[in-house]
Amino acid sequence: MEELATPHTPAPDGVTVRLTITSPEQMRELGRRLAELLRAGDLVMLNGELGAGKTTLTRGLGEGLGVRGAVTSPTFVIARVHPSLDDGPPLVHVDAYRLGGGLDEMEDLDLDVSLPESVVVVEWGEGKVEELTDDRLHVVIHRAVGDTTDEVRLVTFTGIGRRWANVDLGVLSA
Ligand SMILES: Nc1ncnc2c1ncn2[C@@H]1O[C@H](COP(=O)(O)OP(=O)(O)OP(=O)(O)O)[C@@H](O)[C@H]1O
Ligand SMILES: [Mg+2]
Repeated sequence: MEELATPHTPAPDGVTVRLTITSPEQMRELGRRLAELLRAGDLVMLNGELGAGKTTLTRGLGEGLGVRGAVTSPTFVIARVHPSLDDGPPLVHVDAYRLGGGLDEMEDLDLDVSLPESVVVVEWGEGKVEELTDDRLHVVIHRAVGDTTDEVRLVTFTGIGRRWANVDLGVLSA
């Protein structure tokens, strides 16, 4: 585990944690651990190339949050709501890949759920959904360059805004 302040972090209080993940199952486990840090109103932005593992991480997150329905790639829908199986927040899983118009379009989705009362996870949301909240957790997943069969992924977490200022992201490497 490596924890360092980066000069490229958009907010002064942003802390970046970098992890190396070596299998899909470990990615899922990371999602389950991440769920423990999340609460209603949180926005998690997942970026990284096709097949990086964004949905795999979200699947673990859904398990950790204890929501209904398996998290899958929302190929035909832009967003899917997974209600909590107990009294926790629902998971709203958005694939913004085809979301051209950004936030306006997302508001038009009529999700029938209050985003401030949900945990919102957005794949491919960069430049599209930042206005949802000043506070957000950026997750970037990179595959080891050049080797398409490699299961190694580098995952970077950056907390932005006051919500994340005092959160110890280091627990994710446990
Ligand atoms: N360490 C790893 N972590 C996550 N997935 C991995 C890993 N190694 C291999 N994989 C494989 O890579 C694929 C990741 O698919 P996934 O749908 O999670 O990616 P994605 O980033 O959501 O892609 P897309 O951009 O198409 O939405 C899966 O087939 C998974 O088994
Ligand atoms: Mg995906």
